[in-house]
Amino acid sequence: VKSVSVGLLGLGTVGSGVVKIIENHQDKLMHQVGCPVEIKKVAVRDRDKKRDVALPEAVLTTHVEEVINDPDIDVVIEVMGGIEETRQYILQALKNGKHVVTANKDLMALYGTELLSIASEYGCDLFYEASVAGGIPILRSLVDGLASDRITKMMGIVNGTTNYILTKMSKFNRPYEEVLAEAQALGYAEADPTSDVEGLDAARKMAILARLGFSMNIDLQDVYVKGITGITEEDLNYSKRLGYTMKLIGIAHRDGDKVEVSVQPTLLPETHPLASVNDEYNAVYVYGEAVGETMFYGPGAGSLPTATSVVSDLVAVMKNMRLGVNGRSAVTPQYDKQLKDDSE
Ligand code: NDP
Ligand code: HSE
Repeated sequence: VKSVSVGLLGLGTVGSGVVKIIENHQDKLMHQVGCPVEIKKVAVRDRDKKRDVALPEAVLTTHVEEVINDPDIDVVIEVMGGIEETRQYILQALKNGKHVVTANKDLMALYGTELLSIASEYGCDLFYEASVAGGIPILRSLVDGLASDRITKMMGIVNGTTNYILTKMSKFNRPYEEVLAEAQALGYAEADPTSDVEGLDAARKMAILARLGFSMNIDLQDVYVKGITGITEEDLNYSKRLGYTMKLIGIAHRDGDKVEVSVQPTLLPETHPLASVNDEYNAVYVYGEAVGETMFYGPGAGSLPTATSVVSDLVAVMKNMRLGVNGRSAVTPQYDKQLKDDSE
């Protein structure tokens, strides 16, 4: 049976998790798709860096072009991060007919519509489950599991780093800088953690959720964002004394054709289910007209949880390859058509 060849862009926190899952779960992958998965090339910045995964020397390259232009590679997995340069790489990979799996919410929030349309034009899959809430399969739940319902509101904790920081500061009175450094060392934070602590990472994820949940295009500039950098240990202690827990909460609310999306530190009563979502864990409430209230909970960041979503997207791509089809509803939401249908 011919194997599926994968090219990886990035071998950091998420990339090394992807390698481990592909290597350790070959039997499960075989069972799912009927052929082995081979990691053919991996692009990194520094070939000499010490890594916790062992790959043959010849697999590593510092030239991304060697991955995206390799005619033998079927699927490119982008887990290197970055926006403008990475957008060009993904566009090139899609134009070369390669399916793409990415964990990059920055890119998908800003250029998702463009990239998905190019993917569709070139008959390729572009899946991005890991971009929101790490290991929680929230995107496929929205577009497949809840496909028959009208989503009216989504609310939750979608950034692991800030939740880790607030949890440790509040429970153990530890200083902000110390727990931020710990979140970085554990691989939860972005390369530049500013986007985590200033709320932008959560805003990008909420924009992706709102886009898929409401089938509308959301402009990031319209999202109200306030991060946690102004929160002090005193604020957290005071909240605790009053019976509240501080969390960075994202809300996306739809009313007819109007949508409001915001991210801000919020005081929750200690009895609220989101108040007990701690450390790097995330949780998303989804309210549907018919289903009512649902809640999705799990690890929102970290190597293996995030890689699980990435490799599950790879499995979805491979199943499509076998069937000779592309996409799932997540890939090509029909924004305009949906809005028109709703207003009829
Ligand atoms: P890391 O910084 O740990 O890893 C980045 C990897 O990409 C490194 O291996 C680096 O090479 C490589 N790389 C970066 N730039 C280039 C380049 N120009 N050319 C070649 N290789 C390059 O990042 P993460 O694994 O944490 O994150 C990767 C992506 O996944 C980001 O988009 C992030 O937002 C997203 N994500 C991360 C999660 C997490 O929990 N960490 C969760 C969900 C999504 P080298 O090793 O040589 O430096
Ligand atoms: N930096 C992100 C977070 C990684 O802390 O949630 C997961 O997207």
